[in-house]
Amino acid sequence: MEIVLATNNEHKLKEVEEICKNLDVKFILPPKEFNPEENGISFEENSYIKAKAANILTHKYTLADDSGLCVKALNGAPGLYSNRFAGTQQEKIDKILKLLEDKDDRSAKFVCVMTLLDKEGNVKFVAKGECKGSIVKTQKGVNGFGYDPVFLPEGKTLTMAELSEDEKNEISHRRNALNQVIDFLKTLDK
Ligand code: IMP
Repeated sequence: MEIVLATNNEHKLKEVEEICKNLDVKFILPPKEFNPEENGISFEENSYIKAKAANILTHKYTLADDSGLCVKALNGAPGLYSNRFAGTQQEKIDKILKLLEDKDDRSAKFVCVMTLLDKEGNVKFVAKGECKGSIVKTQKGVNGFGYDPVFLPEGKTLTMAELSEDEKNEISHRRNALNQVIDFLKTLDK
């Protein structure tokens, strides 16, 4: 089965491919015209917007991932705006650390909402995955992407960016959502 992964983020593609490596699914990226305006007001809406945009271009089964980091002391920010929170990824990390400088409660979670559309563009399945943790005071690690260097997953002593790819993929929000999608895909009559 071929599924378009509605993203321009190659890190996401890599993680999804790795998590699904034992399945009979080939993920492909949408054509370069794929550039949807993510103007939804929830992860669910943006996930649908991305899935629909890729489906219109390809008319294939499409899976979209909208994800972000939600920090409790920042009332859930950057949340939906994780990608647009500041300029470079380093500036985004610096901004989070600065905003949390005087905060005792550093709890946070990664959220991922995945939307699966069929070839006709109908919603077949929506899944939400979370990974709970907290924001460290000093960034550490170079693996993964995005906010991984400042995120300490619950029960771990290393940041997400210090974990190996396999260790991250065991506990991540993306893994959690994708497990639900995989269970659904197994029920489909191919
Ligand atoms: P999206 O591509 O619009 O869903 O934006 C997601 C943004 O959230 C990314 O650019 C990252 O900044 C952040 N993000 C999502 N998932 C992860 C992750 O697994 N690790 C670190 N940051 C993430």
